[in-house]
Amino acid sequence: MYVSAKNMLIKAKAGHYAVPQININNLEWTKAALQTAQELNAPIILGVSEGAGKYMCGFQTVADMVKAIIEGLGITVPVALHLDHGSYDACYACMDAGFLSVMFDGSHYPIEENIEETRELVRVTGERGISLEAEVGSIGGEEDGVVGAGEVADPAECKQIADLGVTMLAAGIGNIHGKYPENWAGLDFGALEAIQELTGEMPLVLHGGTGIPEEMIRRAIELGVSKINVNTECQLAFAAATRGYIEAGKDLQGKGFDPRKLLAPGVEAIKAAVKEKMTLFGCVGKA
Ligand code: 13P
Repeated sequence: MYVSAKNMLIKAKAGHYAVPQININNLEWTKAALQTAQELNAPIILGVSEGAGKYMCGFQTVADMVKAIIEGLGITVPVALHLDHGSYDACYACMDAGFLSVMFDGSHYPIEENIEETRELVRVTGERGISLEAEVGSIGGEEDGVVGAGEVADPAECKQIADLGVTMLAAGIGNIHGKYPENWAGLDFGALEAIQELTGEMPLVLHGGTGIPEEMIRRAIELGVSKINVNTECQLAFAAATRGYIEAGKDLQGKGFDPRKLLAPGVEAIKAAVKEKMTLFGCVGKA
């Protein structure tokens, strides 16, 4: 079922679990994520960065592909196709292409500008029945060329953005994209608690889901996180499984070079990673 992220996140917040955003890169990735969601009867959000959109031949191709896969595989669980860390213009491009969920990342602007552009997008997405994620306090690390130094969001600014009427709010709490360094200080639960207190029912989003210890994930969900983004972990799992296949010389045996065979271990590894996240996030059976 191709939907916006609104209802699944309202349910997640009320039910104290989180819906994963799994970033996709191609047809195999999308198929693996959707089949796992269906198998586990779980809602899912498919994340597409601007770079991934370009790689997949544009947002229109992505939207058409996702809708066709949902139909072709008979996927009945709720699926939201979501722009990840979009610019103001990319939000419009995705809405026009048929996305029902977008993220406007105005975290690198002064707060007044972030508020103004988010306000306008709240109006437009509201008219079109599209869910909108906003961000306060940039997420550290690097994703698709976008580098953030990482800062802890100011709870008062979070409230200002939440009060505009966004669907979900990403707040930097010491999380970063990609692998966490050895000396990482961990998530700032004090900040998360303060943000949760001021924003009430607003579903909170935790970016940088790769490599956060399980206990911290559970605590974050208890404190109001309802959506957790996972990208790098699936990439690492896919790469390791593909490496194993090639290093074992399987591509040289029989028809092992057939892409349907060569990519299969990587696809299975993505499925296992998604299953592990859905189980940890508590969204299994919540479709
Ligand atoms: P990771 O790549 O660290 O899992 O982060 C994903 C993310 O936050 C996408 O926005």
